[in-house]
Amino acid sequence: MRKELTTRHLLFFGPPGAGKGTQATMLSARVGVPHISTGEILRSAAAQGTPLGKRAKEIIDAGHLVPDDIMVELVRDVLRKPEARGGFILDGFPRTLPQAEALTALLAELHVNSFAVVVLDVDEEELVRRLSNRLVCERDGRVYSVGRSGVNRGSPCPDCGGQLVQRDDDREETVRRRLKVYLQTTAPVLAYYEQLGVLVHVDGRGTAETVHWEITQKLSEEVEG
Ligand code: AP5
Ligand code: MG
Repeated sequence: MRKELTTRHLLFFGPPGAGKGTQATMLSARVGVPHISTGEILRSAAAQGTPLGKRAKEIIDAGHLVPDDIMVELVRDVLRKPEARGGFILDGFPRTLPQAEALTALLAELHVNSFAVVVLDVDEEELVRRLSNRLVCERDGRVYSVGRSGVNRGSPCPDCGGQLVQRDDDREETVRRRLKVYLQTTAPVLAYYEQLGVLVHVDGRGTAETVHWEITQKLSEEVEG
C-alpha cells in the first residue's frame, strides 16, 4: 500500500501570513503541480510596470483587494494554460464570494470535479509576528524570516546572494488593514466551501515541516500498489 493525494486540485486559504505561500511551494515541489499565487502574479506585473501592475500596486500597498472582475479574468487565463491541466495549487484566490462563485463555474468548464480547500489556522498574534519578520529576496523571490536560516535584516539571500527586502504591504498599518479585510470579506467565503464539504482545516502554528506533514496526511489516502 502507498499513499496518494485524493485530489491534485487544491486551494490554499488563510489569513495574511498563515503560510499559504510557504506550504504551497513545499507541496508543489513534492507533487509536481504548479503553484499559482495571485499575489505573486500581481507583484510581478507591478515589477514589470504593466498597466495592471501599476493599478494593482496601489491597491496592494493600501491593503485592499483588487477588483473581482480583474482577478477572475486573471485566474481564468492561468487555469486554462496547459501547465495547469494536471492539477494546481491556487494560493490567495478566491478572496470574495463572487470570486468563489466564478471559480466554481470555471472549474466546471475545465471538467474539474474534485478539489479541496486547505485552510491554515493561525492566531492573529502569530500572523503579525510572521509578517513583520518576513524578508523576500529581490532576485529569486524566496521567502525568509528574520532570525531563521541565519537570516537577519541586511543580510544577503542565502541561496543567490540577492538583496532581502520587506514587502511594501508588510508595513504595520497595511498589515492591520489586510487582516481586517480578511476577517470582513475573505473569511466568510469559508461558509461557501463548508457547504460544498471540501474544507480541510490544518493547524498552521507548528513549524513549516510539521504543517506540511499534516497537510499531506489529511489530503492522502492509501492506494494499492
Ligand atoms: P498575497 O500575496 O496572497 O498576500 P496574503 O494573502 O496577504 O498572504 P501572504 O503572502 O502575506 O502570506 P502567506 O500566507 O503566503 O504566508 P507566507 O508563506 O509568506 O496577496 C497580496 C495582495 O494582493 C492582497 O492583499 C490583495 O491586495 C492582492 N490580491 C491577491 N489575491 C487577490 C484576490 N484573489 N483578490 C483580490 N486581491 C488579491 O509566510 C509568512 C511568513 O511566515 C514568512 O516569513 C514565512 O517564512 C513565515 N512562515 C511560514 N510558515 C511558517 C511557520 N509554520 N512557522 C513560522 N514561520 C512561518
Ligand atoms: Mg503569500
